[in-house]
Amino acid sequence: MGISIALTKGRLEEETVKILDKANFGTSELKNKGRKLVFKDDKEDIRYFLVKAADSITYVEHGVADIGVVGKDTLLESNHSCYEVMDLGLGKCKFIVASLPGRDLFNSIGHIKIGSKYPTVTKEFFKKKGMDVEIIKIEGSVELAPILGLCDGIVDIMETGTTLKENGLVVLEDICEISARLIVNKASFKLKQKEINCFLSRIKEHI
Ligand code: PRP
Repeated sequence: MGISIALTKGRLEEETVKILDKANFGTSELKNKGRKLVFKDDKEDIRYFLVKAADSITYVEHGVADIGVVGKDTLLESNHSCYEVMDLGLGKCKFIVASLPGRDLFNSIGHIKIGSKYPTVTKEFFKKKGMDVEIIKIEGSVELAPILGLCDGIVDIMETGTTLKENGLVVLEDICEISARLIVNKASFKLKQKEINCFLSRIKEHI
């Protein structure tokens, strides 16, 4: 039985294809993709789709893809029902709380506004701290929001720290580490056990 795999396009894509390559899967279509979004493995009965991170979870949850590659950040933000089976150890970064220097958000009195692409992660983090903050959902370039006064601080991903630094923001606290994970559809895990385990064990040898 063939399997389908939803890959997250963008930052994780190149490193994911490298692992597939090392594990000797047929990646030539993926490496010469043009604007195509569906690819056949030229060695095995595998189909790959290239999708946005959150959609990778959606395709796996609905069983359209058996396996997905997706960042832990997106998994933490979603209320998904897939099995998270492997840490690929790539796309490493972390969730942080940041603000303009000199803003002690955790000891401020009064209304605090936090901008983030990740409202669920933000809500959980401040809830654990016993803080009731207003969360403002932002789609991108989150670092801009405190500079322009839209919010007091942000919850975002930091990889190299360059974006924060170049925009004059400082880290107030680390929330958690992030990396890319393999997720599996629950029904596929039973129905295609052999194929999925074979795929997973070959990947595991190369991470
Ligand atoms: C992410 C994140 C930060 C930046 C961090 O944004 O939201 O802005 O990368 O990376 P760094 O620590 O290496 O500078 P992304 O590039 O995905 O774009 P976006 O802001 O438009 O979402």
